[in-house]
Amino acid sequence: MDNDIERILVAEEVIEKRLDVIAARITEDFRHEETLQVVAILKGALVFMADLLRRVPLKLEIECLNVASYHGGTESSGQVDFLDQKLPDVKGHTILLLDDILDTGRTLQAVSAKLMEMGAKEVKTAVLLSKDKVRAAEVEADYTAFEIADEFVVGYGLDYDGKYRNLPYVGVLDSKVIKS
Ligand code: IMP
Ligand code: MG
Repeated sequence: MDNDIERILVAEEVIEKRLDVIAARITEDFRHEETLQVVAILKGALVFMADLLRRVPLKLEIECLNVASYHGGTESSGQVDFLDQKLPDVKGHTILLLDDILDTGRTLQAVSAKLMEMGAKEVKTAVLLSKDKVRAAEVEADYTAFEIADEFVVGYGLDYDGKYRNLPYVGVLDSKVIKS
């Protein structure tokens, strides 16, 4: 699996140190919330969520949302599909929405809008990675662990064609692996 990686972009130790900082900020910012509901976008945010939330000593609840926007390639399809039969009850709650990466912005924008439409009191967003690019949807995250260049990355939750999510670091995939 490591052979398919051209270069490591964010090493495991670097991610861990940065998560300490982001988690401390989140803990401070939400300390007065009676019910903080965290909503993670599956499957990409799984690893980020697990490592981040274990550093946040607040009484929070975790919900997950299944959303698809990529459909197997390396280009966003431009459409965000909600795949769950039943969506979490977010009415009146402050939501911390987690995703792996902010790319075109369509996912975060569509999910934030949906949560507000479902009656959330407020939606804040946190992402592990944010690509430096002009976004199709004008949205920025409230908490960003790392800004990266506009290239396709895998690992630490991020996949290519369903694989590489379990790499402990974020890396750039070798172009020979990408199906044309
Ligand atoms: P957006 O809607 O274009 O912002 O895309 C967000 C979603 O696209 C993320 O939740 C990821 O699942 C996926 N994505 C965007 N860029 C990458 C990447 O470089 N590697 C893997 N997945 C990505
Ligand atoms: Mg994905």
